[in-house]
Amino acid sequence: MPKPKVFVTRILPEVGLRLIHEACDAEIWQDPLPPPAALLEAKIAALDGLVSLLTDKIDGPLLDKAPRLKVVSNFAVGFNNIDIPACTDRGVAVGNTPGVLTDATADMAFCLLIAAARRVVEGHQYSVSGQWKTWEPLGHLGQDLAGRTLGVIGMGRIGYALAQRCYGGWGMKILYHDVYKSEKAEKDLAAVSVDFDTLLRESDFVSLHTDLNDKTRGMIGAAQFQKMKRSAVLINTARGPLVDPKALAEALKSNTIFAAGLDVTDPEPPLVDDPLLKLPNVVIAPHIASATVQTRNQMAEICAKNLIAGLRGEKLPAWVNPEVEGKRCL
Ligand code: DGY
Repeated sequence: MPKPKVFVTRILPEVGLRLIHEACDAEIWQDPLPPPAALLEAKIAALDGLVSLLTDKIDGPLLDKAPRLKVVSNFAVGFNNIDIPACTDRGVAVGNTPGVLTDATADMAFCLLIAAARRVVEGHQYSVSGQWKTWEPLGHLGQDLAGRTLGVIGMGRIGYALAQRCYGGWGMKILYHDVYKSEKAEKDLAAVSVDFDTLLRESDFVSLHTDLNDKTRGMIGAAQFQKMKRSAVLINTARGPLVDPKALAEALKSNTIFAAGLDVTDPEPPLVDDPLLKLPNVVIAPHIASATVQTRNQMAEICAKNLIAGLRGEKLPAWVNPEVEGKRCL
């Protein structure tokens, strides 16, 4: 019996590749940049399974060229790169990697919060460029953290983990806005559910932890920056398009808000002439919130297990569209 044919769109940690090679006839894309869409399109007709990244767009027209495809296993917790209803309609199971990256991502959100609030990167540039001449009583003034208010937009696993750090470590008051009530956050962290505008108006730090979809795209724009405190810091470790990039650059330039810490941008990477790249009050990381050795190994393992379960017609350990069950073509 020949092994199922799969394509993996980037080199993954060894622990995942080993599992995939044992169970599959696997081709691994070796280039550090994503495979071009046309190449994926050319390959997909022969595939039983696909390991995708958040940079690979998996949509209906691509899936229509994939009569054998049983599973798409995304190496990420987010899956806004995949048209889930299109996969479900065509009987294709989709997996993701939730849970294992919660702490790493919350750590990065906090790292960006403190770096932006305390102007760490700006201070580093100042030091290494030889501008540091003396100790300055009025230089480099940032924002305090202790006892301030954190506003979490999307109180899921990662939002909760950030709130836990800020509440437990810095005694922050926690506000949150979510379509779901988080009894856990309310009980453990004294978090208060508020409407979106109240969160924007009352928070010192606003951190985004929501999915990117048609309702949330651009949810932070010029009108929202106007509602925020002038001392506020915006943190985004979720998805770049949640924030209108022009409005963000304008808000930072005009000091409508104090600073921003971003692990994600729109587009990624930012274009060379993106005004954000020239502003002192923004810290930008290259989408690395889950980039720890342990987290990426765990992501690779779940990703491989999702792929293999999907190929075998079994339940995926982390299954985005279990509703596909009755439609799977096995
Ligand atoms: C995800 O998993 O969705 C992150 O953006 C990358 O780890």
